[in-house]
Amino acid sequence: MIIKNAKFYLGGKVVIKDILIEKGKITGIGKFKGEGIDANGLFALPGLIDPHVHLRDPGLTYKEDFHSGTRAALAGGFTTVLDMPNTTPPTTTVKSFKQKQVIAKKKAVCDYGLHFGATKNNFNEVKKAKPNSMKLCMGKTTGNLLVDDVYSILKHFSSFPKEKPLIVHAEDAETLEAIEKMKKGRAEIAEKIAVEKARLLAEQTDRVVYFAHTTTFEAVHLAKIWKKSLVEVAPHYLFLSREKDGKRLGKFSKVYPPLRSEAERRELWGALYFVDSVGSDHAPHTSQDKKKSSAGFPGLETTLALFLNAYNEGKIELPWIINRMAENPAKIFGLNSKGRIGKGYDGDITLVDLKEGWKVSADDFESKCGWTPYEGFTLKGRVKKVFLRGNLVVDDSKVVKEVKGKRVL
Ligand code: DOR
Ligand code: ZN
Repeated sequence: MIIKNAKFYLGGKVVIKDILIEKGKITGIGKFKGEGIDANGLFALPGLIDPHVHLRDPGLTYKEDFHSGTRAALAGGFTTVLDMPNTTPPTTTVKSFKQKQVIAKKKAVCDYGLHFGATKNNFNEVKKAKPNSMKLCMGKTTGNLLVDDVYSILKHFSSFPKEKPLIVHAEDAETLEAIEKMKKGRAEIAEKIAVEKARLLAEQTDRVVYFAHTTTFEAVHLAKIWKKSLVEVAPHYLFLSREKDGKRLGKFSKVYPPLRSEAERRELWGALYFVDSVGSDHAPHTSQDKKKSSAGFPGLETTLALFLNAYNEGKIELPWIINRMAENPAKIFGLNSKGRIGKGYDGDITLVDLKEGWKVSADDFESKCGWTPYEGFTLKGRVKKVFLRGNLVVDDSKVVKEVKGKRVL
């Protein structure tokens, strides 16, 4: 495969060159003879990596599964996704970890990895399964993966390999409970207390900790006091707010952590320099389930476009997008063949039209959930073609081909 006349960042500069992909790997960058696909007018990004998706498989496959979820990933410009453990059964034992590997191998049409889940007593399972990453929920959310006591948190923090990312959902269970009793919603303080707790425990155990979906400027900075903290942002805390979107979306606005105030949303933009990665936190629920109070938003098919739109509005630079959505996730999770356009890397390329405007409509999406909190938004910047290990899998913004996904984590 030759991608001709691709415009992309190479060593910090924008270049226009051909990209040669052989046997799934990038083998040359320059000028090549022969048939190819013309990328003229499009911008090439490394195939994006989403470190935070909930593909619901097994157990809740009416909401999403490894097939529909990975198709949604491709449509959104992602060539690799890392799946969260709050499925049914949860990915907290050797058995369920293996079971999910079998399912993913059969159904995934982009590359993937699986995060293991921490419980209050699965220390031996973690040791036996030897996962490369683990998720620990300090506050209750979808599923029942709760580790809310300091003893168990500390035990996981000290026994899980120190340099492997331990992902924390930082909302303090006890604080959430108190807030609920006082009928004041899930205030920001539950996150700040949990970030403080996790950060201090990470510092004490000298370990890498990865804070999922940090929602405020202050939370980002509290996390970053410890040098081995990694911080993720999710799009909804940057593009939606309680005041702006809470009313519009009604029950559909429910998400953990909850949408923050408009002032906090704006402030979070000021923290982006310190943020390590973007996770879509693709958490699909059907409309019917949303009406019954399920928490979470789909995100795979809108996240990149929202950031491209922000780029068009002068709010963010392209290198930030490339770094936080490809290079850094690859580095953090040890995906050595991913995240860059360069010789020796996998031939994963996302071609976007930076100027094309389009209207978001869930009817056009691959996700099974059938709705999006961004319905009707007009965005400038669109995924046009995607290559997965040299295969053209998205063309003209539509999934056109399926190749078997490969496990990378
Ligand atoms: O709103 C949420 N939904 N927050 C989470 O942490 C989990 C997610 C889900 O799996 O539905
Ligand atoms: Zn999540």
